[in-house]
Amino acid sequence: MRIRIAVFPVAGLGTRFLPATKTVPKEMLPIVDKPLIQYAVDEAIEAGCDTLVFITNRYKHAVADYFDKAYELEEKLAKAGKQELLDVVRGVLPSHVRAIFVTQAEALGLGHAVLCAEPVVGNQPFAVLLPDDLIWNPDGPGALSQMADLAEAERASVIAVQDVPLAQTSSYGIVDTDEFSGRDGRIKAMIEKPQPEKAPSTLGVVGRYILQPGIFDALRRTERGSGGEIQLTDAIASELDRQKTLAYRFQGTRFDCGSHLGLIQATIRFALDHEKLSSAASSYMQKVLDELAHDDGPLQ
Ligand code: G1P
Repeated sequence: MRIRIAVFPVAGLGTRFLPATKTVPKEMLPIVDKPLIQYAVDEAIEAGCDTLVFITNRYKHAVADYFDKAYELEEKLAKAGKQELLDVVRGVLPSHVRAIFVTQAEALGLGHAVLCAEPVVGNQPFAVLLPDDLIWNPDGPGALSQMADLAEAERASVIAVQDVPLAQTSSYGIVDTDEFSGRDGRIKAMIEKPQPEKAPSTLGVVGRYILQPGIFDALRRTERGSGGEIQLTDAIASELDRQKTLAYRFQGTRFDCGSHLGLIQATIRFALDHEKLSSAASSYMQKVLDELAHDDGPLQ
């Protein structure tokens, strides 16, 4: 069965990006001209999802406002004949896609956030996308689309992974798998944020999951784990004997936009790829690098 529902946990406080995130949710920080959340939403829609479930908190009105229809703005743009901008504004959420907002009253962790989506998801497979992980694959299908094909063909849960430095295992869910055939391998064990010496491998979970509805019961049984939170990793791990779960090395580049460096890297990469900005952005970067190389003093 093809996934149609995508869940976006966006209730985090985004403290890493303070003071910006004092008023602007992390998911609304722009990468060039689109907020971070839009990249994940576009990826879900491309994969075939038509119902988007945002797990928010009471401070995240900006996310709901962003996906709401902006009547006055649209009317103004239409009257002014600004068709291109009108298309951009309308393109935020295509008309066949609906957005549903669920409030996570308490910040009890990613697993708890996913459980909040149960009343909307019901009894069907679904995707979870963590918008901090921006995955860029300009020459092929998005990561979620690749995963949806595999999940459908194998009737399995699928979790995106990539190799991470050994020193960073404590920032990721880490999986232990059978031997890979091509891009995927069956997961045998999964641990949330192990120290390097306890990590079964250096294959880290990236924020894309295709899950079966059985995960909700598993989440209900899951006790607080790493960081005192209800972890999605722990619930998935508890189901591995019952539920075929594949680790999938996706095609594409992942930017960790939950970190300053990742956000900057994504901004640079997308600016260099932008149809209108590419050449000016690249000349400017070249100029800065030349100036730094020649130590010409402060930039003008
Ligand atoms: C979450 C998950 C972790 C995963 C990571 C990917 O952690 O709990 O398993 O590896 O996302 O970005 P977070 O980064 O939200 O702490």
